[in-house]
Amino acid sequence: MRIVNVPLGTRSYEIKIGPELLSTLGAECGRLNLGSRCAIISDRNVAPRFAKAAQLSLKKAGFDSVLITVPVGETAKSLKVVEQCYDALAKHRLERKSFIVALGGGVVGDLAGFVAATYLRGVAFVQVPTTLLAQVDSSVGGKVGVNLKAGKNLVGSFHQPRFVLCDIDTLRTLPVRELRAGLAEVIKYGIIYDAALFDRLERDMAKLLKREPKVLTEVIARCCEIKAEVVGQDETESGVRAILNFGHTIGHAIENISGYGKYLHSEAISIGQVAAAGISAAMLRLSKDEANRLSDIFARAGLPTTISLNRHQRKKLLAAMRLDKKVSAGEVKFVLAKRIGEVVWGQKVPEALIQETLDSIEP
Ligand SMILES: NC(=O)c1ccc[n+]([C@@H]2O[C@H](COP(=O)([O-])OP(=O)(O)OC[C@H]3O[C@@H](n4cnc5c(N)ncnc54)[C@H](O)[C@@H]3O)[C@@H](O)[C@H]2O)c1
Ligand SMILES: [Zn+2]
Repeated sequence: MRIVNVPLGTRSYEIKIGPELLSTLGAECGRLNLGSRCAIISDRNVAPRFAKAAQLSLKKAGFDSVLITVPVGETAKSLKVVEQCYDALAKHRLERKSFIVALGGGVVGDLAGFVAATYLRGVAFVQVPTTLLAQVDSSVGGKVGVNLKAGKNLVGSFHQPRFVLCDIDTLRTLPVRELRAGLAEVIKYGIIYDAALFDRLERDMAKLLKREPKVLTEVIARCCEIKAEVVGQDETESGVRAILNFGHTIGHAIENISGYGKYLHSEAISIGQVAAAGISAAMLRLSKDEANRLSDIFARAGLPTTISLNRHQRKKLLAAMRLDKKVSAGEVKFVLAKRIGEVVWGQKVPEALIQETLDSIEP
């Protein structure tokens, strides 16, 4: 088992990572000085698999839990489902000292976290992430929120969990496509922050795809450490936190123009990271060799690294990049790599170079 501390002053908390942890949920909550009632929010895939074990563990530690099950997928991140959760919490008389357990992937974490941030002006919450993406990314950092028709994550808040429990045994039932998706963010941490992690991923990719517990535990712990360090320096996203968006400028735009369901977020940002490497090679002298290693590792993880766009789609892609909410004052800015393990943010990239790079990643 590994423990990562997220240093945020009085709101600091621990992330525990390892096998066989779900059964310790109750005991862990018991150390946090919380009320005796709680609600578990989970989705229809995850609840049948893990809610029973979670409830049993809570019960053994003296907690009375109610299970709230929400639909699977992005549609659950809506104000309508938020309202349904509020109603269920009120019906079960959860009060100020009660807490919420988010049991599921990033969707459940973002939704349950937002419910916790706002119900009774804020109650405590605990994250039990069950996807690789949620374990290395969405459960760390305190961003919570839901979608509007106008776009993803447009309503939200910062609300830090009191504790995060990553039981890697839950990853056994994760569909392989979702596992690969998590790997896109794992690889990102190597590129933006840690060349040694990147080297390790090159060595251990096969083991990760086989879900070997030891490698998973160590790699997830390192990713959480990196995200915690970055978030700790910049909790509300005004500076260095931007590096977490490596590959996301083009990635988000690909997601936007491709229509719902074609690419998972992480698949789009896998292509986006390969494109950002191409731009980095042209602008910052990232070496050809490193740019190749970067696209090879995504390919080995089974992620897409190329995209074919006709002229019309290209136009839409560039327009989508300009509309991205991370754009300020109409300027598209990129996170670019100087070398594997070190990036810089706020880089202006000429449109001609973006076009050239898109040519170079045609299949
Ligand atoms: N808050 C943040 O900082 C942050 C960061 C990154 C992403 N996100 C958000 O996270 C969401 C994506 O998260 P995700 O990729 O985890 O998606 P998800 O929550 O939709 O989970 C993916 C799929 O796997 C299923 N699943 C989850 N755990 C499982 C398990 N152990 N076994 C079998 N099936 C399981 C889910 O039911 C779902 O069908 C997006 O909404 C995104 O906006 C938030
Ligand atoms: Zn992402």
